[in-house]
Amino acid sequence: MRVLVVDDEPEVCNFFRYLLEWQRYEVTVATSGEEAKAHAGERRFDVALVDLKLPDVDGLAVLRHIKNVQPECEVIIMTGYSTIRSAVEAIKLGAYDYLQKPFEDIEELAALIARAGQAAQQGDATWPPVEEELGFVIGHNPAMQRLITMAHKVAPKEITVLIEGETGTGKEVLARFIHHLSPRAQGPFIAVNCGGFTESLLESELFGHEKGSFTGATATRRGVFELAHQGTLFLDEVGAAGPSIQVQLLRVLESGEFYRVGGERPIKTDVRIMAATNVNLAEEVKAGRFREDLYYRLDVAHFHVPPLRERREDIPLFLDFFLHRQATSMGLAEMPRFHPQVVNKLKAYAWPGNIRELANVVAHAVAMSDGTTVIEERHLPPKLLGALGEEAAAPPGARAGQADGEVLPGLLEHWASEIVTHCQAALGREEGRLSLPRLLAQLREMEAGVIRQVILAALKESMGNYQVAADRLETTPRVMRYLLREKGKKRTKAAPK
Ligand SMILES: Nc1ncnc2c1ncn2[C@@H]1O[C@H](COP(=O)(O)OP(=O)(O)OP(=O)(O)O)[C@@H](O)[C@H]1O
Ligand SMILES: [Mg+2]
Repeated sequence: MRVLVVDDEPEVCNFFRYLLEWQRYEVTVATSGEEAKAHAGERRFDVALVDLKLPDVDGLAVLRHIKNVQPECEVIIMTGYSTIRSAVEAIKLGAYDYLQKPFEDIEELAALIARAGQAAQQGDATWPPVEEELGFVIGHNPAMQRLITMAHKVAPKEITVLIEGETGTGKEVLARFIHHLSPRAQGPFIAVNCGGFTESLLESELFGHEKGSFTGATATRRGVFELAHQGTLFLDEVGAAGPSIQVQLLRVLESGEFYRVGGERPIKTDVRIMAATNVNLAEEVKAGRFREDLYYRLDVAHFHVPPLRERREDIPLFLDFFLHRQATSMGLAEMPRFHPQVVNKLKAYAWPGNIRELANVVAHAVAMSDGTTVIEERHLPPKLLGALGEEAAAPPGARAGQADGEVLPGLLEHWASEIVTHCQAALGREEGRLSLPRLLAQLREMEAGVIRQVILAALKESMGNYQVAADRLETTPRVMRYLLREKGKKRTKAAPK
């Protein structure tokens, strides 16, 4: 195996020379970026160890160069603590992994280089079957593939993870996936929706409270920071956390300690934090609604889950996956399939509700197809059919514009179809045994979701300006704030698997 070591410190180069030649690897050293590029132009390497700080160029530039001229060579970045963020950036650019200086565990170091060498010689690694166990469909989309490669690399480290993406794209599934690949897999994964509570309730949800700390605190209660001990704490919709919660989160992240509400004793935390948001947090920071220091603490490893319309090639795969799941849960003797024309139409649809919407459409279609094995257009939710018709009629540019800028129309379309789906599924599945109370309860629950999401979408369109959004919705900022608080009062806490 051939290894290129790029570092301007002679001691580091010598260290690797001894370590690697001892393992019978061929070692070439370069003390600058230029020298490294010259070597890379002359001979093939399996692994390159590149220091992030070089005298002439940035290590990332060397990484890019090597990946360009020798894509199969695996690059390991070496970094000091202060540059750990760039190291994560390097992984996005295709680095195999990063090493933190000073090197502590020499055996682990050698093992990492050996693994990188194997990966270089075998080409793309195949993933272990974790995703199957979790029911996580990855697909063939290159952006999604890169995301998963990165997830594998980030999972074993203790760094915080920030996942951005539209609603229903699978942010929580991705977080669970990373948790399951991490050394904390045996510990709990606890999700808390920061948009789902008033500020004071969220505070006690996160940190717990002592008996008698406020009216109604009749017993001491542990918060999720304690419940997630030795596991992962997933802060969902972290952008919705108010200013005082943001300060407290920052404090825990910095000190590793927190206090229960009304408590006097600091409690040490042992949790890995992952956070998700469907608003653009960097913009929230610019607008002064989210603390910059907290943002930087959270956004160490950044994941952007692409919307479904940007990975259309995987739509047939998702259709099959949910078809299989639905048919199995309904105990159907024969596996239904979609008519190819239907698949084509669904591939062209905009999917504002992303994978969650697709799963619902499949569930609806299977219920409607009533035992026939080929699912046709008439089995799809009527609202979706309407949208498909309009999309086909709209000039191509119009559709793209809607997807990027105006979110409201798509969202309303989505919810309308969602509501019809629920009613029809209830009618279709429980023929003769329709439960009106249950349907009403379902609709009420959906109402909360519709109102909340419509307000959030309007805010997104108005770039966070409440007055503009309120005008558009023919209401007032005060009503919007009230409804956001009211309609978000749901608790999502997943039990450990
Ligand atoms: N890659 C995937 N494979 C299988 N199922 C998926 C995938 N992505 C999403 N789903 C399913 O879609 C639904 C939505 O996923 P999830 O809750 O993770 O989305 P989200 O991005 O957190 O959405 P929100 O922003 O609305 O909270 C879930 O039922 C999930 O199981
Ligand atoms: Mg979610």
